[in-house]
Amino acid sequence: MAFLDDIEPLKQTGLSELKNAPDLAALEQTKGAWIGPNGKFTALMKQLGTLSKEEKPAAGKLINAAKVELEAALVARREELELKAALPKEPTDFTLPGRRRALGKLHPLTQVTDDIVRAFRKIGFAVADGPEIEDEYHCFDALNTPADHPARDSQDTFYLNVAQASAPAGSGSVLAPGSGGETPLKPAGKMPALLLRTHTSSVQIRVMEKQPPPVRIIVPGRVYRRDNADATHNPTFHQIEGLYVDKNVTVGDLKGTVEFVFRELMGSDVKIRFRPHYFSYTEPSYEIDFTNALVKKMGKDWLEIAGCGMVHPQVFETVGYDPEVWTGWAFGFGIERIAMLRYGINDIRLFYENDVRFLKQF
Ligand code: DAH
Repeated sequence: MAFLDDIEPLKQTGLSELKNAPDLAALEQTKGAWIGPNGKFTALMKQLGTLSKEEKPAAGKLINAAKVELEAALVARREELELKAALPKEPTDFTLPGRRRALGKLHPLTQVTDDIVRAFRKIGFAVADGPEIEDEYHCFDALNTPADHPARDSQDTFYLNVAQASAPAGSGSVLAPGSGGETPLKPAGKMPALLLRTHTSSVQIRVMEKQPPPVRIIVPGRVYRRDNADATHNPTFHQIEGLYVDKNVTVGDLKGTVEFVFRELMGSDVKIRFRPHYFSYTEPSYEIDFTNALVKKMGKDWLEIAGCGMVHPQVFETVGYDPEVWTGWAFGFGIERIAMLRYGINDIRLFYENDVRFLKQF
């Protein structure tokens, strides 16, 4: 039977053309040529009507099965070609390194602090910590700092409003700088006056209250002062306090220690000089001046970098250490000042602006 014999070869040709269509446009054309309204296979189906009653069922079945096969071939080829079209045109180089996620790094102040801590750890110092919201006793009184000392003035120091400070520490409000007479300055009465610590020296007292001598600690931490921000001042900055208490401790130990740490930190050409000064919690007291090639390059001979001295006997009395038995020294550095020197930074405010173009350099 001629009609039935035509179906199979026609289907095979159709399948092969569909499977070999080179791209999506060609495939759509091939589809039209075979199973579209004017397609070759559609024409064959139209001829069904001319067949006899007996021939029709077998021929219809065969044609339908062939059409299903052609349609399946069309869908399969279309998927293949769509996938191919979605792939990159350029060949892929699988040996290229992967894309790395940019890692952040430590803030320069943290790096400097870590290095200072590392240097002190080498010679047996432990890190201690204390609260940033401090009471006047630990910040001043116990450090032998008299009530009329300028650092206690509300113009210099951020006091907390004690009316609200009975709430948990940290939830109190800080008096705004320059807030006038309407705000209570130093609170009167029996409540301990709370303030943002003006130095890390308060932690000396907190540590000595808690443990018997000997003591060998450093205290990195944030401190607050009512300074207007400029190239060398900021109301918030960082210090490292050091305290060493033992028997027969001398100024020589202090100088040797400071020299060791600065050489670790800034190189072996560092020189240290002690200049007599006054702090109420040390006697004798000194300011530490620092110099190296970098300082010379800045056109200076020395840069003041820290305060220090031998712990005042009155401070030992206050914390219950016997000043006839125990001796000690203490110091306080400004971390920003050291970081500025180390990296040649000329404006302290850069540390707090969090501009990645600045931070990326360290
Ligand atoms: N607390 C002083 C300041 O903030 C620095 C200081 C000086 C700390 C002498 C000390 C010290 O421990 O003995 O300026």
